[in-house]
Amino acid sequence: MKVLVVGGAGYIGSHTTYELVRAGHEVVVLDNLFSGSTKSIHPKAKFVWGDIRRKSDITRILAEEAQSGHPIEVAMHFAARLIVPESMAKPLDYYENNVEGLRVMLEALIENNIKNVVFSSTAAVYGDPAIPECSEDDATIPINPYGETKLACENMIKWAAQAHDLNYCILRYFNVAGADSSLEIGLDKDQLTHLVPLIMQTALGIRDKFYVFGDDYDTIDGTCVRDFIHVTDLAQAHVLGAEYILSKGESLLANLGSGSGYSVKQVLDTARELFEVPYEISPRRPGDPAKLIADTSRIKSILGWEPKLDIKAIIKSDYEFRKKLG
Ligand code: UFG
Repeated sequence: MKVLVVGGAGYIGSHTTYELVRAGHEVVVLDNLFSGSTKSIHPKAKFVWGDIRRKSDITRILAEEAQSGHPIEVAMHFAARLIVPESMAKPLDYYENNVEGLRVMLEALIENNIKNVVFSSTAAVYGDPAIPECSEDDATIPINPYGETKLACENMIKWAAQAHDLNYCILRYFNVAGADSSLEIGLDKDQLTHLVPLIMQTALGIRDKFYVFGDDYDTIDGTCVRDFIHVTDLAQAHVLGAEYILSKGESLLANLGSGSGYSVKQVLDTARELFEVPYEISPRRPGDPAKLIADTSRIKSILGWEPKLDIKAIIKSDYEFRKKLG
């Protein structure tokens, strides 16, 4: 299949491109390089600079590929802003980039008769759920603009699919971490906020100490519980999802996590079995739900997908990637 990966220079988009190429698919990457980097784009993928909010940038590629006699069959969207505290400070930027960006992209796809869309959504659409094991039919009550914009995007896709006969694969990510086995790509940002990279930077001596945000939650050891999924497992689910909607002509909305919960302390202790990680307990971070775990039965049964890499593999690959970065 031939796939347009919008946001293919970023963390998840680049890993998905690697898995698409490994599975023998053809990839065209569109990215404005706002947070992505050209060095993350697989050498076998074609790269075109462009901004998702400018329809002509998208239609130009779609027309070019169609003229080549081998048109784009599936479009994947990874071009979202995704930092929760930033979304609280700049909600309108999030609406503009995430919601308006997707609206423009859908318009371009529909006008060019591209019928298959894969969209990265998030567990943040569930907000602070009453039952921590989230299933796709649970209530969606986001507690920040980031989750709110992703939910608006999900709904826009569903309505557009109904009106214009599209197939969609919407995947709600839980806590993604780790790096590709080649160590060519990983989460490479200046200002990291996520748990695993911060623990690994501490293990490498880039940070003096790791801070555990709160140990008085109602969980196994008082620290928050999350569902960690290796980025390669997550990327492979996208390949299967795209193949599924294209071959079956059906749509799918599914959680994408490992289905297992680990507390912050358990992740830290797993890392400390391998590396020295000085740490300190600090106050809670505002807006953190105590426990978020994916019910993964839907994606497993429909796509036959299973995560292969566990929390140790996630930690090790992030460490190796960061060590290589220096
Ligand atoms: N944490 C620490 N110390 C740190 C960083 C994080 O204790 O230095 C804790 C957080 O308080 C939280 C847990 O580690 O309890 C995970 O935090 P992350 O920032 O790594 O991830 P989040 O769970 O906040 O959010 C991530 C994505 C969201 C997605 C969510 C779904 O960033 O987009 O997972 O579970 F919605």
